[in-house]
Amino acid sequence: MPDVLSFPYYPINDFGPNMKGMVIGGLGIFHVFLAQFAIGGGLLMCYLERLGQRGESPDARKFVDGFFKLLVLISFVIGALTGVGMWFTSIQVSPRTIGLMVDEFHWIWATEWTFFCLEIVSGYAFYRYGERLDDRSRLTLLALYFVAAWFSLFWINGILSWQLTPGTWLETRSVWGGFFNPSFWPSLIFRTITSMTIAALVACVVINAIPDLDRSARTRLINQSARFLAPMVLMPLLGVWYFSSIPPDSRSWVLGGNVAMMLFFLLGIGASLLIGVYALFGLLRQKLFINGATATLLRALGFAATAGGEFVREGVRKPFTVRETLYSNSIRLGEIQMLRYRGSVTDDPYPLKGAERYPNDQVRLGVKVYRFQCSICHTIDGANALLHLSSSWSTEQKRMNIAQLQRTKTFMPPFAGTPRECEALVQYLEWVSAYSPAAWPVSEDAEVLARIQGWLDDAGTEPGAAFLHLAARKPR
Ligand code: HEC
Repeated sequence: MPDVLSFPYYPINDFGPNMKGMVIGGLGIFHVFLAQFAIGGGLLMCYLERLGQRGESPDARKFVDGFFKLLVLISFVIGALTGVGMWFTSIQVSPRTIGLMVDEFHWIWATEWTFFCLEIVSGYAFYRYGERLDDRSRLTLLALYFVAAWFSLFWINGILSWQLTPGTWLETRSVWGGFFNPSFWPSLIFRTITSMTIAALVACVVINAIPDLDRSARTRLINQSARFLAPMVLMPLLGVWYFSSIPPDSRSWVLGGNVAMMLFFLLGIGASLLIGVYALFGLLRQKLFINGATATLLRALGFAATAGGEFVREGVRKPFTVRETLYSNSIRLGEIQMLRYRGSVTDDPYPLKGAERYPNDQVRLGVKVYRFQCSICHTIDGANALLHLSSSWSTEQKRMNIAQLQRTKTFMPPFAGTPRECEALVQYLEWVSAYSPAAWPVSEDAEVLARIQGWLDDAGTEPGAAFLHLAARKPR
């Protein structure tokens, strides 16, 4: 019999009809777009400032000291605020994941924040005093700003990519093994190129809006900025590299295994492709003029590509928040066995909201099980609703499919409770689908529980088929 360990329970928030991932994702996409613009924008300002100082771009200074500078300032300020917002929302949604990230990488976070401070100070100093400084100091401040901004990407990228591909960290628990994980480099280079692309597209919009520039001056500035689109030619190659570095099951979600994943993936690819093709043929080869409307459209495509990419990156990690370590519902791989024996919510100290609404203790237990094991990815009747997903199943099918959750869909974690808890969850679903009547019978058939036990045993406590290779690993 497994030892009874204590499980670290955290309060679980209820975001109504929204899936929790959507709460993080919505803010995350916005944050990433802004933060990447702030990085690429810094590099573009450096580049144009340098061209201007060498006399190759007479109007560069108008651009560098103009509206674009304000945009970069706004985006690193809002980027910083939404970054804090990310901490705030992700700690509401998954304290244990954040806890693990902080435990494993605290010095890396500290380093990241140091660079971030440097970014803020040098960026703001340039914004405030840039116009009064000599050429050398201007360039130094801009370079400092860009390098600091890029390095905060460098550090954070190691931690985010570790979540999907922890690499040798799984065996060694080495910080650097986790940091320089298999998807570290492709994803860092990919993000750097994305930053440059976003900056170039925003620059095209801004250049069109600078007053008192004639058309040839505009065209020159646009063509100089558009050089930042050139690295996009590497994207297909990087995409292949990135995809070969992520786990095969994650790859399969995107390549048709999951419709939503695939759609977002195609959105990302399609949008990038459109920008790339336009950039190559329109801007680089024929030195076309790009007007405000087109630039705005391209920038919207840039946003779509970012959104698609981030959605996929977060989505393909399922059922883990840290691959092969921590399931999305904050249960560690090795804890399933213990919770099946002990009961997943037996020690959960947090009371149920509106407990008096439910007809009996069994349904209340079911709600707690749902809250603990399923609510991170499902709602009852909102987004990804359990009610809807299980509506065509008989009671017996619900029992079996939930007891064998990791077989029902390989991107769900194994069920982590007792047969009593599984039956309680099924009764909860049945009660809601019967329109929540005031009275509901308690189901206490010993044979039902025995059947559920059989299914639980049959499915085992290892992750779904796609992860069967894990079974061979040493215990975690
Ligand atoms: C890691 C996230 C995650 C967790 C945790 C999770 N699920 Fe799911 N589940 C999903 C996704 C994603 C789908 C696919 C939805 C779709 O097909 O549209 C799904 C599908 C389902 C389905 C429909 C399956 C089918 O074959 O059509 C049911 C029923 C279900 N989940 C029940 C549960 C229950 C009960 C729990 C808690 C014990 C749970 N899930 C926990 C992510 C999760």
